[in-house]
Amino acid sequence: MQGFQVAPRRTIILAVSVITIFIILFKFYGDVPVDYYRNYGPGETLQLFPVKVDNEKPQPGYFKAQPEWNFDIPATAKGWKGYAKTPRSRDIVVLTASDGGGHNSQIPNVLERVLQDRQAYCDKHGYTNLWLNTSRYDIGDAHRTWSKIPAVAEAFYLYPNAEWVWLIDTDIIIMTPDVSLADDVLAPAAIKKGLMRGTPILDGQLKKNPTNIFTPKDFRVEDIDILITQDHQSVNTGSTFFRRTAVTRWILEMMADYTMLMGQDHVGAEQDAIKHLMLEHQLVRNHVGIYPQRKFNAYVQGGDNMGYRDGDLAVHFAGCWVGGKCAEWFEEFWGKKGHKDQWRPAGQH
Ligand SMILES: *[C@@H]1O[C@H](CO)[C@@H](O)[C@H](O)[C@H]1NC(C)=O
Repeated sequence: MQGFQVAPRRTIILAVSVITIFIILFKFYGDVPVDYYRNYGPGETLQLFPVKVDNEKPQPGYFKAQPEWNFDIPATAKGWKGYAKTPRSRDIVVLTASDGGGHNSQIPNVLERVLQDRQAYCDKHGYTNLWLNTSRYDIGDAHRTWSKIPAVAEAFYLYPNAEWVWLIDTDIIIMTPDVSLADDVLAPAAIKKGLMRGTPILDGQLKKNPTNIFTPKDFRVEDIDILITQDHQSVNTGSTFFRRTAVTRWILEMMADYTMLMGQDHVGAEQDAIKHLMLEHQLVRNHVGIYPQRKFNAYVQGGDNMGYRDGDLAVHFAGCWVGGKCAEWFEEFWGKKGHKDQWRPAGQH
């Protein structure tokens, strides 16, 4: 008789437990996709809750004392010899580091407009769009553009799984949103095929001032931690990719060294910092890849190496303030973003 009573009770308890488990599973299903755990690598920080970006929080007393500067590096990226893999879309952060001021403010609502546009681009591909107000960083007496460096560090800090951060200036329009950062720019195959080898690193115009310093003829994709382009004068930091590695962290530290670089009178500001580090250190050159300029930093004007052509990912209004053309050029290109017709064919200036 005893046995008859125990058996149904156990069955009921079991059934209730199973139902409870399913209720809990369904409650959270959708919040955290199963695929998140499937691709979750050991050593990654599990990030389940939305990131809180606090653009009001000052970074006083020299930003290096702040936790936001102290971003972490996974074990796979701690050595000189890094790793190479195509990043997952959600591990790419598109970073606009700006206080909304500067010469770009000639363009009506420029920050608001590009941020909205970048959000649409990020939504299309699954990237993270991030704006950090650079007024918050205490950079001493250095020119305001140096504050892009702590912003890159903070992006890695805020998104502990971010593998690549694309730092793009406000005066850049994404013209061809079909271009995939993961596949076309950051994938090992793209880097291997696309980087310029044995190309002179410029310090002013080459003819006037040849440096006789070149990018490596051969490189390991695993070593490439920063992707940048070069115009006719110098590398340009308006559009730059940073990979979360110890080498990137170290290069950012060096760029922001107040005594040697950031506190010195450099006309090109943070751009001079990376240029000088590249010119002086083979070690840095080995870790910074130079793509042809139009890969992600075409200018409004220029020949086939430099000027925007149909199909290029982005256009940069670098130097537009010189002729007071910022607003005019910006509107012209803004009206053509995402276009599929023939507009600026190769060879036409
Ligand atoms: C960035 O922060 C500064 C200082 O708090 C503020 O004056 C400025 O308006 C902010 N920029 C934007 C675009 O909100």
